[in-house]
Amino acid sequence: MAAANLIDGRAIAAQLQAETTARVAALKARGVTPGLAFVRVGEDPASKVYVGRKEKSCADLGIVSETHVLPESTSEKDLLALLGKLNTAPHLHGILVQAPLPKHMRQEVVYATVLPTKDVDGFHPVNVGKLMLGDDTGFKPCTPAGVVELLVRSGVKTDGAEVVILGRGNIVGKPMAAMLCQKARGANATVTICHSATRDIKAHCRRADIIVAAMGVAEFLKADMVKPGVVVMDVGVNRVPDATSKTGTKLVGDVDFAAIQPIAGKITPNPGGVGPMTIAVLMQNTVRAAEQAIN
Ligand code: GUN
Repeated sequence: MAAANLIDGRAIAAQLQAETTARVAALKARGVTPGLAFVRVGEDPASKVYVGRKEKSCADLGIVSETHVLPESTSEKDLLALLGKLNTAPHLHGILVQAPLPKHMRQEVVYATVLPTKDVDGFHPVNVGKLMLGDDTGFKPCTPAGVVELLVRSGVKTDGAEVVILGRGNIVGKPMAAMLCQKARGANATVTICHSATRDIKAHCRRADIIVAAMGVAEFLKADMVKPGVVVMDVGVNRVPDATSKTGTKLVGDVDFAAIQPIAGKITPNPGGVGPMTIAVLMQNTVRAAEQAIN
């Protein structure tokens, strides 16, 4: 039986997908089918899995998707040329360039080339700026936006809460902090970002009401680092050796789930927590891009 304190990301993602499905139907009634392009460069195994899941979600919701797979050796110039074409394609409302990109490409140049109105990842500097300004007309990065949605739909009070974010990456940590400190619904928190140079991570975590773990270290957050009743959101996806599995590896999060779950107020399982929400928010962003394109 599922523990009462689990935040069921699959169930909450399904709620959001149902709302998005209704919006797709409304768009289709107006003669518009939302379209999303995926661009994957190279053969990173995790990226293949992620893009595959996103394609499936599009198919489930009636969003048309197309995937462009480029070899690892592709020049930055050729990738930018492809993005230029996708930017002007009227049947495409969203463009997602899957990270990580090969080292010879300048990530910031690539993401700045996607039209802000098609940037359903929320990585373009215009959308990053809008997020900082609290301007909701931009697109927000899917993973941290999904974490906010999980908190809101699970009834977690963020107003005035002490939130500790583990990790300062551009995809999760930094936008997560920007979202949670806004004077807004599902936000209004006191936010601390901890990272590799933080002196006493344990002390920060022990006073946190909510911890978002997104630093990419397998099972980093231990039971002695949290206070009873803490809400824990585990964004981590780490492949670790596992002699008992057929593949010899398994996926774990950034949280020692087995030890923390009994003392947490609420906690996301991993898998089945934050991951499904990332995709649900991506679909929501894509449908909004299509709505905005015709309104
Ligand atoms: N790689 C890991 N997470 C993400 C994401 O949210 N968007 C893209 N484009 N790449 C990612």
